[in-house]
Formats: sequence, structure tokens, C-alpha cells
Amino acid sequence: MVAAGVAATAALLAVLLSVHWFPTPASTRAHEVRTLYDVLLIASVPIFVTVCVVIVTAVIRFRMRPGQEHMDGPPIHGNTMLEVAWTTVPALLILSLCVYSYVVLHDIEAAPARGSPKQLDVGVVAQQFAWQFVYPPSVTGGAPLTTTTLELPVGRSVLFSMHSQDVIHSFWVPSFAAKEDVVPGLTTHLRATPDRLGTYPIVCAELCGIGHAFMRSSVSVVTAAAFAAWVKRRAGPLVPPSAGSRGLVAAGRAEFTGTSGCSGCHSLADARATGTIGPDLDVGLKGRTAAFIRQCIVDPNSVAPPGYPKNVMPATFARTLTKTQIQALVTYLHTVAGR
Ligand code: CUA
Repeated sequence: MVAAGVAATAALLAVLLSVHWFPTPASTRAHEVRTLYDVLLIASVPIFVTVCVVIVTAVIRFRMRPGQEHMDGPPIHGNTMLEVAWTTVPALLILSLCVYSYVVLHDIEAAPARGSPKQLDVGVVAQQFAWQFVYPPSVTGGAPLTTTTLELPVGRSVLFSMHSQDVIHSFWVPSFAAKEDVVPGLTTHLRATPDRLGTYPIVCAELCGIGHAFMRSSVSVVTAAAFAAWVKRRAGPLVPPSAGSRGLVAAGRAEFTGTSGCSGCHSLADARATGTIGPDLDVGLKGRTAAFIRQCIVDPNSVAPPGYPKNVMPATFARTLTKTQIQALVTYLHTVAGR
């Protein structure tokens, strides 16, 4: 039994530890989570194997043989030593794994130590079915910057403060080994320190409606210098509206990139929006009338172009936006994309 157990443990551990279970780790916490996972594997495989070997051996060796149908096994009176052992050993094992997990959790949620680079604050806004990221004035040095993809400097601890505009979503960056629910009415927090350059997916991990599967974005981890240049480029003032009712156009642009969340899903050159979930508005609205654009906002299902499933764009804007907000959006879109 011992020989079979040791051999099975070694074989199983060799297989399990050689499989790449996780995506490329790109944050300091991802490494700690991976080590924790390996330690849990190493601790649990021998126990699993022991249980299996004992059960299989017992079934084979002590099985009922012909002629034993009416026999009973020997009466068992218990074994104090054994009972103490099988209670204490698992208890100690679980306790130490709990302590180790707690240490890892505490570690990955800790604010940066003194002397390390200052933490970066980023807001995350979840909405059916898009992510928006808000860089506060402390980062931009001016007005807050709202984007639909995330850009982060390498080696700096990021504190995400997250809220939802509608239902429960979950912000998940698999490569950061970081996931946290985004709940309406609450601000939830998540911390990660990217430590590898590259672009990684951001996924919504909570079923949030018909467009849940489309609720994706990406995070680019860049050097500190590239990040500073990116913020400078993106946070600069937008080109002022050239024609039309200036007030409404400006208000419409603010709606488009801000609270209404249009830029999360659509591309529009004027707003520097690069969303790909919904149609590209520079293309889709070209030559269209203001009435058509209004219909797109208040009754999107009636105009959804081929390839864009219905109900991915919420059909509730007639209710959730005021008349003025809709008017501003229509004027803005007609001015910058319709002509
Ligand atoms: Cu948002 Cu699923």
C-alpha cells in the first residue's frame, strides 16, 4: 500500500505541477496565488491518494467471498490513538493552510510599503455591457480621464475603486489573478501591481444580462514613461466643436464619453472612442438623419445592423436618460458623424 501510494502521489504531482493552469502571470499577486495553488496541490494530492489506496485495498482484500453471504465482520471497539491522530493531523494541516492563505491574502491586498512608488488610483465603472476606466485628477493633473481600455504603468501598485451603474458585474483580469464583484450601491476595491509588459484581457465574470459575453476590455501594461506620455496625450483638451449648436454638441460629447457610457461600446473618432462591442458610429451614422440617430438611442433593437445581436445595447435609454440628454446626444452625433 505504501509503495503504491508513494508511486501514485509522485506520478500525480508530477503531472499536476507540470500543467500550466494559469494564464501568463502579469502582476506580483499572480505569482503569490500561483505558489499558493502549488502548495495546496502538494498538500492535498498525498491525502487524496492515501484515501483512494486505502479504499481500493479494503474493497479488494476484504471483499465478500462465496460462502460468506451470511457472515458478519468482527465487532470493532474503537482505537483511541488512531482517532486522536486522524483528528489532530487534518486539523493541524487545515489550520496551517488557512494561516498561509490568510498571509497571502493580506499580502496581495496591502498598500505599497514606504519607499516604493506611490499607488495609482483608477476608477472602474461597470455598465451593461461595457467597462469604463476613470483616471482621477491626481493622475491626469487636470480633468478626469475616462477610457474604455485600461493603461497601467509597470511596477506600480494600482488601487481600483469600482462601482456599477446597473446590475452586479465582476471585474476580472485573469493574468493579474485578480477578480472582484462590482455591485450597484457599493464601491468595491481591488489592488494589483502589474509586473510584466504586455496586453491582457479584462473579463466580466458575473452573468449580467444578454451581452455579458461581450463585456470585455483589455489592459496594457507599459513603462512608466510610456504611461506618462499616454496620459498627457489622452487627457489633453478635445478639439472644440466646429459648427452647429455649440452648447448641445459639447453637452452631447460629455454624455457620450461620460455618464451615458456610449464610448464603452462604440467607436467615434471625435470622442476618441474605440469601443468595438457596438457598430462604429463614424461608419454607421454617416449620412443619417437626426430622427434615425434618435431611434438608434431610444429603440436600438429596431435598427440593429446585421452582425450585432439585439438587446446587447440596452433598450432602456428612453427611460434612463432625460429628454435634454437625448437631444444633446442626437445633436452631437448628427454633427460629428451624420454629415
Ligand atoms: Cu457584466 Cu457580465
